[in-house]
Amino acid sequence: MYSTRDLPKITTHVLQEMKLKGEKIAMLTGYDFSMAKLLDEAGIDIILVGDSASNVMAGHATTLPITLDQMIYHASSVMRAVTRALVVVDLPFGTYQGNSKEALNSAIRIMKESGANAIKMEGGSEIKESVDRILSAGIPVIGHLGLTPQSINKFGTYVVRATEEGEADKLKSDALILEEAGCFGIVLEKIPAELAKEVTEIVKIPTIGIGAGADVDGQVLVLHDMLGLNIDFSPRFLRRYENLHDSVIKAFHNYIEDVKSVDFPSDKEQY
Ligand code: KIV
Repeated sequence: MYSTRDLPKITTHVLQEMKLKGEKIAMLTGYDFSMAKLLDEAGIDIILVGDSASNVMAGHATTLPITLDQMIYHASSVMRAVTRALVVVDLPFGTYQGNSKEALNSAIRIMKESGANAIKMEGGSEIKESVDRILSAGIPVIGHLGLTPQSINKFGTYVVRATEEGEADKLKSDALILEEAGCFGIVLEKIPAELAKEVTEIVKIPTIGIGAGADVDGQVLVLHDMLGLNIDFSPRFLRRYENLHDSVIKAFHNYIEDVKSVDFPSDKEQY
């Protein structure tokens, strides 16, 4: 069993050291107090309060509708549970694409109101000015390249990205721009494993993959997907570590049956 005793508090510097030592970084999404407590107790390195909350918590078809206030609510809940993991929060769609002042204000609200450790933003050269401004304010930033769900209406599909040479070249150049700006890492989503390997070799900061193969510095998955709560979503890159859908349905069925048959509560379960 993996033991979390004596593990150091995770900072961006620890992540950099992990890359240098070749120690892989384990990241999962988290959106609420109870799950964040379990993630932290298990020894996860990074909890991402992802805008995937828009999908898995709120039931939207895309990540676009979630608001800054809603992200701050999720991030604050996570922060109340965490003692060791680094907590990264997504800047939601529409809160940083306008201009760098707006981006800085959004990042400051997240840091001030939730107490989180860092923020994540999707994009490369297009968001450089905002990344610069946020980093100048002392806020750590992790980039996100490849499949960027906030741009789903531009691309129209969630298929693998950067399979063509032009897009792959832009992705490599964006990775270097984010590194040069001072980002502490880059999430690489749904790109060919060979390209992710190349990016991981050309940048000195850690890369965290989701559907980007094994030759990256760490992996991230959406919590509800890896726990098997969400059985409608089965991309090739997803490994399910539990089948909570079936266990939870079974628990609910048992409860309903016990209530209807007046088996619950028993004499011992009342005052
Ligand atoms: O919002 C999210 O969950 C993410 C991960 C898929 C990396 O950005």
